[in-house]
Amino acid sequence: MPTVRDQKAKVVSDEPAARDNSQPAGDFEPSIEVEIAGVRFQNPVLTASGTFGYGQEFAHLIDLNRLGGICVKGISAAPMPGNPPPRIYETDSGMLNAIGLQNVGAKRFLEEKLPFLRTLRARTVVNVFGYTTEDYVRCIEILNDGDGIDAYELNISCPNTRCGGMVYGNDPKLTEEVVAASKRAARLPLWVKLSPNVTDITVLARAAENAGADALSLVNTFVGMAIDVETRTPRISNVTAGLSGPAIKPIALRMVYQTARAVRIPIIGLGGIATTEDALEFLIAGARAVQVGTANFYAPDTSIKIVEGIRTYCRRKRLHVDDLVGSLQVPTPNVEKATEY
Ligand SMILES: Cc1cc2nc3c(=O)[nH]c(=O)nc-3n(C[C@H](O)[C@H](O)[C@H](O)COP(=O)(O)O)c2cc1C
Repeated sequence: MPTVRDQKAKVVSDEPAARDNSQPAGDFEPSIEVEIAGVRFQNPVLTASGTFGYGQEFAHLIDLNRLGGICVKGISAAPMPGNPPPRIYETDSGMLNAIGLQNVGAKRFLEEKLPFLRTLRARTVVNVFGYTTEDYVRCIEILNDGDGIDAYELNISCPNTRCGGMVYGNDPKLTEEVVAASKRAARLPLWVKLSPNVTDITVLARAAENAGADALSLVNTFVGMAIDVETRTPRISNVTAGLSGPAIKPIALRMVYQTARAVRIPIIGLGGIATTEDALEFLIAGARAVQVGTANFYAPDTSIKIVEGIRTYCRRKRLHVDDLVGSLQVPTPNVEKATEY
Protein backbone atom coordinates (compact mmCIF):
# COMPACT_ATOMS: atom_id res chain seq x y z
CA MET A 1 0.00 0.00 0.00
CA PRO A 2 1.27 3.52 -0.72
CA THR A 3 2.34 5.65 2.24
CA VAL A 4 1.50 9.32 2.52
CA ARG A 5 5.01 10.12 1.26
CA ASP A 6 4.40 8.22 -1.97
CA GLN A 7 2.00 11.01 -2.85
CA LYS A 8 5.00 13.33 -3.16
CA ALA A 9 5.70 12.00 -6.62
CA LYS A 10 2.17 13.02 -7.61
CA VAL A 11 2.66 16.60 -6.42
CA VAL A 12 5.46 17.18 -8.92
CA SER A 13 3.07 17.04 -11.87
CA ASP A 14 1.29 20.28 -11.09
CA GLU A 15 -1.28 20.45 -13.87
CA PRO A 16 -3.43 17.70 -15.31
CA ALA A 17 -2.36 16.79 -18.83
CA ALA A 18 -4.46 18.27 -21.65
CA ARG A 19 -6.97 15.59 -22.54
CA ASP A 20 -9.48 17.59 -24.49
CA ASN A 21 -9.91 19.81 -27.52
CA SER A 22 -10.04 23.15 -25.71
CA GLN A 23 -8.73 26.25 -27.50
CA PRO A 24 -5.10 27.35 -27.10
CA ALA A 25 -4.80 29.86 -24.25
CA GLY A 26 -3.82 32.78 -26.55
CA ASP A 27 -3.92 36.05 -24.64
CA PHE A 28 -6.64 34.94 -22.20
CA GLU A 29 -5.64 35.74 -18.61
CA PRO A 30 -8.01 34.11 -16.12
CA SER A 31 -9.00 35.66 -12.82
CA ILE A 32 -8.19 33.25 -10.02
CA GLU A 33 -9.32 35.63 -7.25
CA VAL A 34 -12.22 34.51 -5.10
CA GLU A 35 -14.49 36.28 -2.63
CA ILE A 36 -15.72 34.63 0.54
CA ALA A 37 -18.16 36.54 2.75
CA GLY A 38 -16.97 39.90 1.45
CA VAL A 39 -13.23 39.11 1.74
CA ARG A 40 -11.20 38.84 -1.48
CA PHE A 41 -8.46 36.22 -1.72
CA GLN A 42 -5.82 36.59 -4.46
CA ASN A 43 -6.28 32.89 -5.25
CA PRO A 44 -8.41 30.04 -3.89
CA VAL A 45 -5.64 28.08 -2.09
CA LEU A 46 -5.17 28.27 1.69
CA THR A 47 -3.19 26.16 4.11
CA ALA A 48 -5.24 24.13 6.61
CA SER A 49 -5.34 24.67 10.35
CA GLY A 50 -2.86 22.63 12.40
CA THR A 51 -0.67 21.72 9.42
CA PHE A 52 1.07 25.06 8.88
CA GLY A 53 1.78 26.36 12.39
CA TYR A 54 1.28 30.12 12.58
CA GLY A 55 2.70 30.61 9.06
CA GLN A 56 6.12 31.94 10.06
CA GLU A 57 7.47 28.40 10.57
CA PHE A 58 7.18 27.93 6.77
CA ALA A 59 8.60 31.32 5.73
CA HIS A 60 12.07 29.87 4.99
CA LEU A 61 10.56 27.11 2.83
CA ILE A 62 8.08 28.91 0.53
CA ASP A 63 7.02 32.41 -0.50
CA LEU A 64 4.01 32.90 1.78
CA ASN A 65 2.88 35.91 -0.29
CA ARG A 66 1.84 33.55 -3.07
CA LEU A 67 -0.79 31.80 -0.93
CA GLY A 68 -4.45 32.76 -0.95
CA GLY A 69 -4.54 32.49 2.80
CA ILE A 70 -3.23 30.82 5.93
CA CYS A 71 -5.53 29.16 8.49
CA VAL A 72 -3.57 29.14 11.70
CA LYS A 73 -3.48 26.39 14.32
CA GLY A 74 -6.66 26.24 16.45
CA ILE A 75 -6.63 28.99 19.10
CA SER A 76 -8.41 28.85 22.46
CA ALA A 77 -9.05 31.62 24.97
CA ALA A 78 -6.36 30.15 27.28
CA PRO A 79 -3.12 28.36 26.19
CA MET A 80 -3.26 24.54 25.96
CA PRO A 81 -0.38 22.06 26.37
CA GLY A 82 -1.86 19.34 24.10
CA ASN A 83 -1.72 15.55 24.54
CA PRO A 84 1.36 13.53 25.58
CA PRO A 85 3.27 11.70 22.78
CA PRO A 86 2.95 9.64 20.65
CA ARG A 87 0.59 12.04 18.89
CA ILE A 88 1.19 11.23 15.21
CA TYR A 89 1.26 7.97 13.30
CA GLU A 90 1.65 7.44 9.55
CA THR A 91 -0.90 5.13 7.89
CA ASP A 92 -1.47 3.93 4.33
CA SER A 93 -1.97 7.11 2.30
CA GLY A 94 -2.63 9.18 5.39
CA MET A 95 -1.77 10.02 8.97
CA LEU A 96 -3.40 9.83 12.37
CA ASN A 97 -3.00 12.72 14.80
CA ALA A 98 -4.18 13.54 18.29
CA ILE A 99 -2.18 16.68 19.04
CA GLY A 100 -4.82 17.77 21.53
CA LEU A 101 -5.18 21.31 20.18
CA GLN A 102 -1.91 22.57 21.69
CA ASN A 103 -1.71 26.34 21.21
CA VAL A 104 -0.38 29.59 22.66
CA GLY A 105 -3.81 31.03 23.56
CA ALA A 106 -5.58 34.03 22.04
CA LYS A 107 -3.66 36.81 23.86
CA ARG A 108 -0.19 35.51 22.98
CA PHE A 109 -1.37 34.84 19.43
CA LEU A 110 -2.20 38.54 19.05
CA GLU A 111 1.10 39.67 20.58
CA GLU A 112 3.53 37.14 19.10
CA LYS A 113 2.07 35.65 15.91
CA LEU A 114 -0.30 38.17 14.32
CA PRO A 115 2.27 40.97 13.68
CA PHE A 116 4.12 38.72 11.21
CA LEU A 117 0.94 37.44 9.52
CA ARG A 118 -0.31 40.98 8.95
CA THR A 119 2.73 41.77 6.77
CA LEU A 120 1.65 39.14 4.19
CA ARG A 121 -0.50 39.41 1.07
CA ALA A 122 -2.00 36.03 2.04
CA ARG A 123 -5.14 36.41 4.15
CA THR A 124 -5.16 35.29 7.78
CA VAL A 125 -7.97 33.02 8.98
CA VAL A 126 -7.93 32.17 12.69
CA ASN A 127 -9.25 28.75 13.67
CA VAL A 128 -11.09 28.97 17.03
CA PHE A 129 -12.16 26.26 19.48
CA GLY A 130 -13.45 25.78 23.01
CA TYR A 131 -15.09 23.25 25.31
CA THR A 132 -18.13 25.37 26.14
CA THR A 133 -20.01 27.96 24.11
CA GLU A 134 -18.66 30.61 26.51
CA ASP A 135 -15.08 29.46 25.68
CA TYR A 136 -15.70 30.08 21.98
CA VAL A 137 -17.24 33.49 22.63
CA ARG A 138 -14.43 34.51 25.02
CA CYS A 139 -11.79 33.51 22.47
CA ILE A 140 -13.49 35.52 19.70
CA GLU A 141 -13.85 38.55 21.98
CA ILE A 142 -10.09 38.53 22.63
CA LEU A 143 -9.29 38.03 18.93
CA ASN A 144 -11.64 40.89 17.94
CA ASP A 145 -8.96 43.29 19.26
CA GLY A 146 -6.41 41.96 16.77
CA ASP A 147 -5.46 43.93 13.66
CA GLY A 148 -4.92 41.83 10.53
CA ILE A 149 -7.32 38.91 10.96
CA ASP A 150 -9.60 38.44 7.91
CA ALA A 151 -12.02 35.75 9.16
CA TYR A 152 -12.64 33.25 11.93
CA GLU A 153 -12.98 29.53 11.31
CA LEU A 154 -14.91 27.80 14.09
CA ASN A 155 -13.69 24.26 14.79
CA ILE A 156 -16.80 22.51 16.12
CA SER A 157 -15.23 19.05 16.36
CA CYS A 158 -14.63 19.53 20.10
CA PRO A 159 -16.46 17.67 22.87
CA ASN A 160 -18.73 19.98 24.87
CA THR A 161 -17.76 19.43 28.51
CA ARG A 162 -21.19 20.57 29.71
CA CYS A 163 -22.98 17.98 27.57
CA GLY A 164 -21.09 14.91 28.74
CA GLY A 165 -18.56 15.11 25.94
CA MET A 166 -21.07 15.25 23.07
CA VAL A 167 -19.16 16.71 20.14
CA TYR A 168 -20.61 20.09 19.03
CA GLY A 169 -20.42 19.24 15.35
CA ASN A 170 -22.38 15.97 15.72
CA ASP A 171 -25.52 17.60 17.03
CA PRO A 172 -27.52 20.18 15.01
CA LYS A 173 -28.84 21.87 18.18
CA LEU A 174 -25.37 22.30 19.72
CA THR A 175 -24.07 23.44 16.33
CA GLU A 176 -26.76 26.12 16.14
CA GLU A 177 -26.08 27.22 19.71
CA VAL A 178 -22.33 27.67 19.31
CA VAL A 179 -22.55 29.21 15.83
CA ALA A 180 -25.26 31.72 16.83
CA ALA A 181 -23.34 32.81 19.95
CA SER A 182 -20.04 33.07 18.04
CA LYS A 183 -21.69 35.03 15.22
CA ARG A 184 -23.08 37.55 17.70
CA ALA A 185 -19.60 38.00 19.19
CA ALA A 186 -17.58 38.09 15.95
CA ARG A 187 -16.75 41.38 14.25
CA LEU A 188 -15.39 39.43 11.24
CA PRO A 189 -16.85 36.83 8.85
CA LEU A 190 -17.46 33.50 10.55
CA TRP A 191 -16.57 30.26 8.78
CA VAL A 192 -17.72 27.04 10.42
CA LYS A 193 -15.56 23.94 9.97
CA LEU A 194 -17.67 20.80 9.91
CA SER A 195 -16.81 17.38 11.25
CA PRO A 196 -17.18 14.48 8.79
CA ASN A 197 -17.96 12.02 11.59
CA VAL A 198 -21.71 12.28 11.05
CA THR A 199 -24.38 10.36 9.15
CA ASP A 200 -25.60 13.26 7.02
CA ILE A 201 -23.30 16.27 6.79
CA THR A 202 -25.98 18.38 5.09
CA VAL A 203 -28.03 18.43 8.32
CA LEU A 204 -25.13 20.02 10.21
CA ALA A 205 -24.34 22.32 7.28
CA ARG A 206 -27.90 23.67 7.26
CA ALA A 207 -27.86 24.08 11.05
CA ALA A 208 -24.69 26.19 10.79
CA GLU A 209 -26.10 28.23 7.90
CA ASN A 210 -29.39 28.88 9.75
CA ALA A 211 -27.46 30.04 12.82
CA GLY A 212 -25.60 32.68 10.79
CA ALA A 213 -22.42 31.03 9.43
CA ASP A 214 -20.95 33.09 6.56
CA ALA A 215 -19.11 30.11 5.02
CA LEU A 216 -18.44 26.44 5.71
CA SER A 217 -15.09 24.60 5.69
CA LEU A 218 -15.25 20.87 5.20
CA VAL A 219 -13.92 18.51 6.25
CA ASN A 220 -12.03 18.00 9.49
CA THR A 221 -10.36 14.64 10.22
CA PHE A 222 -12.11 11.24 10.44
CA VAL A 223 -11.87 9.42 13.77
CA GLY A 224 -9.60 6.37 13.45
CA MET A 225 -7.01 4.32 15.33
CA ALA A 226 -4.01 2.02 14.92
CA ILE A 227 -2.58 -0.70 17.19
CA ASP A 228 0.94 -2.02 17.71
CA VAL A 229 0.26 -5.76 17.77
CA GLU A 230 3.62 -6.62 19.40
CA THR A 231 2.90 -4.59 22.52
CA ARG A 232 -0.88 -4.62 22.05
CA THR A 233 -0.91 -0.89 22.73
CA PRO A 234 -2.45 1.95 20.74
CA ARG A 235 -0.11 3.75 18.32
CA ILE A 236 -1.44 7.09 19.66
CA SER A 237 -1.53 7.91 23.38
CA ASN A 238 -5.09 9.22 23.07
CA VAL A 239 -6.07 5.78 21.62
CA THR A 240 -8.28 7.29 18.89
CA ALA A 241 -7.06 10.00 16.54
CA GLY A 242 -7.98 12.01 13.44
CA LEU A 243 -7.24 10.52 10.03
CA SER A 244 -6.16 12.94 7.29
CA GLY A 245 -4.32 12.85 3.97
CA PRO A 246 -5.03 11.33 0.53
CA ALA A 247 -6.88 8.37 2.10
CA ILE A 248 -9.85 10.60 2.96
CA LYS A 249 -10.09 12.61 -0.28
CA PRO A 250 -12.93 10.77 -2.07
CA ILE A 251 -15.14 10.94 1.04
CA ALA A 252 -14.35 14.61 1.66
CA LEU A 253 -15.10 15.37 -1.99
CA ARG A 254 -18.46 13.62 -1.80
CA MET A 255 -19.35 15.64 1.33
CA VAL A 256 -18.42 18.92 -0.38
CA TYR A 257 -20.54 17.98 -3.40
CA GLN A 258 -23.57 17.12 -1.22
CA THR A 259 -23.20 20.22 0.96
CA ALA A 260 -22.79 22.58 -2.01
CA ARG A 261 -26.24 21.50 -3.14
CA ALA A 262 -27.76 21.92 0.33
CA VAL A 263 -26.67 25.46 1.36
CA ARG A 264 -26.29 28.90 -0.24
CA ILE A 265 -23.17 30.08 1.62
CA PRO A 266 -19.66 29.51 0.15
CA ILE A 267 -17.77 26.30 0.88
CA ILE A 268 -14.05 25.87 1.45
CA GLY A 269 -13.14 22.26 0.58
CA LEU A 270 -10.38 20.18 2.11
CA GLY A 271 -9.38 16.63 2.88
CA GLY A 272 -6.45 14.90 1.21
CA ILE A 273 -5.65 17.60 -1.36
CA ALA A 274 -2.10 17.05 -2.65
CA THR A 275 -2.19 17.96 -6.36
CA THR A 276 -3.73 20.51 -8.72
CA GLU A 277 -6.12 17.85 -9.96
CA ASP A 278 -7.31 17.19 -6.38
CA ALA A 279 -7.95 20.91 -5.86
CA LEU A 280 -9.78 21.24 -9.20
CA GLU A 281 -12.04 18.33 -8.25
CA PHE A 282 -13.13 20.17 -5.08
CA LEU A 283 -13.77 23.42 -7.00
CA ILE A 284 -15.79 21.61 -9.68
CA ALA A 285 -17.76 19.80 -6.93
CA GLY A 286 -18.79 23.20 -5.52
CA ALA A 287 -16.03 24.54 -3.25
CA ARG A 288 -15.15 28.21 -3.77
CA ALA A 289 -11.71 27.71 -2.25
CA VAL A 290 -9.58 24.83 -0.98
CA GLN A 291 -7.18 24.16 1.87
CA VAL A 292 -4.07 21.99 1.83
CA GLY A 293 -3.28 20.14 5.07
CA THR A 294 -1.27 16.95 5.50
CA ALA A 295 0.66 17.50 2.23
CA ASN A 296 2.44 20.45 3.92
CA PHE A 297 4.33 17.97 6.12
CA TYR A 298 6.11 16.19 3.25
CA ALA A 299 5.96 18.81 0.46
CA PRO A 300 5.62 22.36 1.87
CA ASP A 301 5.46 23.87 -1.63
CA THR A 302 2.29 21.93 -2.51
CA SER A 303 -0.04 24.94 -2.09
CA ILE A 304 1.90 27.30 -4.33
CA LYS A 305 2.30 24.60 -6.99
CA ILE A 306 -1.47 24.15 -6.87
CA VAL A 307 -1.99 27.93 -7.29
CA GLU A 308 0.08 27.88 -10.48
CA GLY A 309 -1.56 24.62 -11.61
CA ILE A 310 -5.04 26.16 -11.26
CA ARG A 311 -3.92 29.26 -13.20
CA THR A 312 -2.52 27.11 -16.04
CA TYR A 313 -5.66 24.96 -16.15
CA CYS A 314 -7.94 28.02 -16.24
CA ARG A 315 -5.84 29.59 -19.01
CA ARG A 316 -6.05 26.40 -21.07
CA LYS A 317 -9.81 26.05 -20.48
CA ARG A 318 -10.39 29.82 -20.94
CA LEU A 319 -12.28 29.93 -17.66
CA HIS A 320 -12.11 32.14 -14.57
CA VAL A 321 -12.02 30.28 -11.25
CA ASP A 322 -15.53 31.52 -10.46
CA ASP A 323 -16.80 29.76 -13.63
CA LEU A 324 -15.27 26.52 -12.41
CA VAL A 325 -16.98 26.48 -9.01
CA GLY A 326 -19.79 23.92 -8.95
CA SER A 327 -19.45 23.27 -12.69
CA LEU A 328 -19.72 19.48 -12.41
CA GLN A 329 -21.46 17.98 -15.45
CA VAL A 330 -23.47 14.96 -14.37
CA PRO A 331 -24.46 12.84 -17.38
CA THR A 332 -28.09 11.71 -17.50
CA PRO A 333 -28.07 8.01 -16.59
CA ASN A 334 -29.37 5.70 -19.32
CA VAL A 335 -30.59 3.14 -16.81
CA GLU A 336 -33.77 3.71 -14.86
CA LYS A 337 -32.27 3.47 -11.38
CA ALA A 338 -28.47 3.60 -10.99
CA THR A 339 -26.71 2.36 -7.85
CA GLU A 340 -23.07 2.45 -6.74
CA TYR A 341 -22.74 -1.31 -6.99
C1 LIG B 1 -1.45 17.54 12.85
C2 LIG B 1 -2.81 18.11 12.54
C3 LIG B 1 -3.33 19.12 13.36
C4 LIG B 1 -4.60 19.66 13.08
N1 LIG B 1 -5.09 20.68 13.87
C5 LIG B 1 -6.30 21.24 13.57
C6 LIG B 1 -6.82 22.34 14.33
O1 LIG B 1 -6.17 22.85 15.25
N2 LIG B 1 -8.04 22.82 14.01
C7 LIG B 1 -8.78 22.31 12.97
O2 LIG B 1 -9.89 22.78 12.70
N3 LIG B 1 -8.30 21.30 12.20
C8 LIG B 1 -7.08 20.76 12.48
N4 LIG B 1 -6.59 19.74 11.70
C9 LIG B 1 -7.40 19.24 10.55
C10 LIG B 1 -6.93 19.84 9.23
O3 LIG B 1 -7.02 21.25 9.23
C11 LIG B 1 -7.75 19.26 8.05
O4 LIG B 1 -9.11 19.56 8.24
C12 LIG B 1 -7.60 17.76 7.91
O5 LIG B 1 -6.28 17.35 8.19
C13 LIG B 1 -7.99 17.25 6.52
O6 LIG B 1 -7.18 17.85 5.52
P1 LIG B 1 -5.86 17.11 4.93
O7 LIG B 1 -6.26 15.71 4.59
O8 LIG B 1 -5.46 17.94 3.74
O9 LIG B 1 -4.85 17.14 6.00
C14 LIG B 1 -5.34 19.17 11.97
C15 LIG B 1 -4.80 18.17 11.14
C16 LIG B 1 -3.54 17.65 11.42
C17 LIG B 1 -2.99 16.58 10.49
